[in-house]
Amino acid sequence: MAPSPTNSPQRVAHGDWQTPADLSSSVLKLVARQAQTARFASVLEPTCGEGSLLAAAASTFPEAKLLGFELDAAHAAVAQQRLGRRARVVQADFFSVDWEKELSSLPSPLLLVGNPPWVTTATLGVVATRNSPPKRSRGGMTGLEAKTGRSNFDISEWMLERLLEATIASGKNFYMAMLCKAAVARRLLETAHQRRWKLNGSIYTIDAKRHFAASVEAVLLLLSTSETEVDVIPVFPDLEVTQPRSQFGFSGGTLVPNLTGTRESAELEGRSELEWRSGIKHDCASIVELERTPQGLRNNKGELLQLEPNLLFPFMKGADFLRRPTKERWLLVPQQRIGEDTRPLEFMVPQTWAYLNHHRSVFAARKSSIYRKQPDFAIFGVGPYSFAEFKVGISALAKRLHFEMIEPRQGKPVVLDDTCYFLPCDSADQARAFTSALNSAEAKHFFDSRIFWDAKRPITKRILSTLSLEKLLGAHWPAITYLHSKAI
Ligand SMILES: C[S@@+](CC[C@H](N)C(=O)[O-])C[C@H]1O[C@@H](n2cnc3c(N)ncnc32)[C@H](O)[C@@H]1O
Repeated sequence: MAPSPTNSPQRVAHGDWQTPADLSSSVLKLVARQAQTARFASVLEPTCGEGSLLAAAASTFPEAKLLGFELDAAHAAVAQQRLGRRARVVQADFFSVDWEKELSSLPSPLLLVGNPPWVTTATLGVVATRNSPPKRSRGGMTGLEAKTGRSNFDISEWMLERLLEATIASGKNFYMAMLCKAAVARRLLETAHQRRWKLNGSIYTIDAKRHFAASVEAVLLLLSTSETEVDVIPVFPDLEVTQPRSQFGFSGGTLVPNLTGTRESAELEGRSELEWRSGIKHDCASIVELERTPQGLRNNKGELLQLEPNLLFPFMKGADFLRRPTKERWLLVPQQRIGEDTRPLEFMVPQTWAYLNHHRSVFAARKSSIYRKQPDFAIFGVGPYSFAEFKVGISALAKRLHFEMIEPRQGKPVVLDDTCYFLPCDSADQARAFTSALNSAEAKHFFDSRIFWDAKRPITKRILSTLSLEKLLGAHWPAITYLHSKAI
């Protein structure tokens, strides 16, 4: 969530959106129904705010001992006053609590409830505030960053994984009910699967717009101790419904939204024989993304340019797959492969070199660490495949499946940006055959069963790569043998 006058930087950094009382009460009613118990010996909330969920727990489970932690002193005081002697509310930073010690003193069965802050490390950067796990000395990476290789992650994912880890290690019988982003719940389920945690799981969709005025897919994630590893996860459309709408499950170690469809289309599973590529990453749109106008080439700053044609390529962004642009887009591509020395450009294309140098500060201001210690004007996601004449492309941002054949324009290959994925192809025939096969009903069923359409980037290289092109093409065009003809 971005800061606004009502969203102070601290409110954003703390993900400080308190759970409304009616939602807290529905959550606890559901827990009592699902857990089939009227008794929990203790209830723990790791970021309890003003105590809305703990208050609902107090009335649903009158015998339980209540324990809450909260960073904000004023919220912690409100919660303590609201709950009285029934509860112990501690003002503390989640990241400095000794969870193993706290858990060891709680009687079981134990209920963990909560609504941990919905904030990402990227947003923390924007509001210039810290609320994250302690930095590790090596490389300055946080625990989750080091583990996942991701530079942006949800604070709540880290918190919930940490809490689950400690609770499982305690050996206590527990039940966990957490309000969180749908994406966080999915990643936690994948972690649980990878770590072979013995858990039951279910998911209930929440109307985040209604309850929190937030435009994000949100859920209530229920997890509880089980004899077996986490496997099939029923998904319910809301908190009141008792019949699941669908079932999540696992295929090849990853979570899939439609287990039945995944099983039905399993015959196409394999490793894609050709590598799906991502488009070019540059983080310098104002300088390298150009438009051909009747007056000539123009950059996003409105400057008219005189450049040699060598490094200019027709260009498509992910959004262009969804809606045809009115502009004729071109991209200035300073490198043909990652790490290529750019100094020879001074002599090969002096006008382009002068233009790049004139805007050197814009390149230098790029935040991502990938550009450090690289040649001047470096880009990423570039290689011989970027310049394949024919391609089959798809937007990573699309909310439906549609693959498109991409042909050269004005005698030059079209290059894509990093919001697209593509297969580089040897020929027009090959691109046509792949496009048609990938748009077939069989391929659509395969991908639809595996794609979470509510994700920010629903289409990922990982999902695309799980379909065997050979199996797909084999079913339709048995005579085609060019799959192995040339590795691009
Ligand atoms: C989404 S609100 C939910 C509050 C409360 N759990 C509820 O359901 O009403 C997130 C809460 O987490 C607290 N919080 C944020 N970062 C925290 C941290 N590092 N340690 C403890 N609490 C934190 C915020 O102050 C805020 O009260």
